[in-house]
Amino acid sequence: MTLQHFGWFLGAGFGVQGWGDPGYGVGYDWRKPRVYQDAARSFEGAGLDLFIIEDGVTVPDTYGGTAEVNLSTARFVPKHDPLPLVPYLLSATERLGIVPTLSASFYEPFTAARLLATLQHFADGRLGFNVVTSGSDLAAQNYGLDKQIEHDRRYDRAEEWVQVVRALWRSWEPDAIVEDVAGGVFADHTKVTPIHHRGEFFQVRGPLNTAPIAEEPVMVQAGASGRGQQFAGRNSDVILALASTPERMKAYRDSIREVAAAEGRDPDELTVLFVVQPIVTANAEETASARAKRSELTQAAIDEALQSISYLSGVDFKQFDLDRPLPELTTNSNQGTLDNFVKSAPAGSTVREILQKRANGDGLAVIGTPHEIADRLGGLADAVGGDGFLFTGQVHPQNVHRTLDPLVPALRSAGLLRSELGDGGLRQNLADF
Ligand SMILES: Cc1cc2nc3c(=O)[nH]c(=O)nc-3n(C[C@H](O)[C@H](O)[C@H](O)COP(=O)(O)O)c2cc1C
Repeated sequence: MTLQHFGWFLGAGFGVQGWGDPGYGVGYDWRKPRVYQDAARSFEGAGLDLFIIEDGVTVPDTYGGTAEVNLSTARFVPKHDPLPLVPYLLSATERLGIVPTLSASFYEPFTAARLLATLQHFADGRLGFNVVTSGSDLAAQNYGLDKQIEHDRRYDRAEEWVQVVRALWRSWEPDAIVEDVAGGVFADHTKVTPIHHRGEFFQVRGPLNTAPIAEEPVMVQAGASGRGQQFAGRNSDVILALASTPERMKAYRDSIREVAAAEGRDPDELTVLFVVQPIVTANAEETASARAKRSELTQAAIDEALQSISYLSGVDFKQFDLDRPLPELTTNSNQGTLDNFVKSAPAGSTVREILQKRANGDGLAVIGTPHEIADRLGGLADAVGGDGFLFTGQVHPQNVHRTLDPLVPALRSAGLLRSELGDGGLRQNLADF
């Protein structure tokens, strides 16, 4: 077994943590930074490389054309902006990478470059940013559009966005600030240059007006469609990946590495992290009962699964008969996520069969004792040749401890998890192995 990179993907974003758990709200308030700071400290202590915080800008009402399920079960809403949380997380930790989500569709590149450069000065190289293109029409309608622009065009736009953001970061030469007190020169004006960008989507003069950053923030991305993989393989440092079987994981990683190589990059520069949800039990009996509980397709479990895929794909899954196969589906939103859902059971399966297969543990969940989970992740790493995993789950304090306290020693003794993070920043930690 070889060392893997691990991180935590907070799929609920800066949103409600622990709703539905008997300990909801006990000793913490999800609206305030402290619970996320405590979680970040636990992640750092565990040796995880990074903490990624999801984001979105809608009150989802795709499922059944109403926000009822989302609001009554606190799924994807309410949600606060993760960017103001970043300085709190940085101040609570010293080595952990902090990765907020940022929409290339709704942030002007100048605003994003300035904001991230400012945060990177606080972060001393620990900042990343998860670039999303915000596929939903609901999101677009909050930003002056009737509907979101076409999927591949959105990526074309995001590609230009990344180029502009990076050009702005490079608009100051690293040694432009001389602070020559005797000569009376703070910055050398010959080393600060406008970018004069005039592209298809953006027109930005530059230069950036922040101080230059020693290291660019780590770019994280999750494109899974053909165009999404092209974008991620060309531009991204870390890839977030969802895949339900070892075969699909391997195919995805191989494919994105091929894209990177075709773009002239060294594929080993990419860190592909697969999202898994560890459910830690104490013994075989608890494992059996956790599996039985998860595989029970109650109406609440069906609603939970279907509102989630409706939100992520922009397709209303309430319209489908549970006992019939799905029709051919397309989306202008997250194509990879939809594809992954549809293909998590054999072609021709009914909606209920797909849900059952996922509930049985064929989705993201890895259920077992700490050693069983370590074995399973080690086996996956060998089969996929992968770079590592992202644990997903809420940061309800009990959930973080329930998961990491028993799992960390097992992952370490299996040789999968490093014992300590380095202090050279996120990029350096990712390059360690
Ligand atoms: C693990 C993971 C995390 C993601 N996080 C976010 C997020 O925080 N906000 C968001 O709007 N989209 C998020 N997405 C959606 C992706 O950014 C991307 O738009 C999506 O995978 C669609 O790309 P595709 O059509 O190329 O598959 C995430 C996707 C995955 C797989």
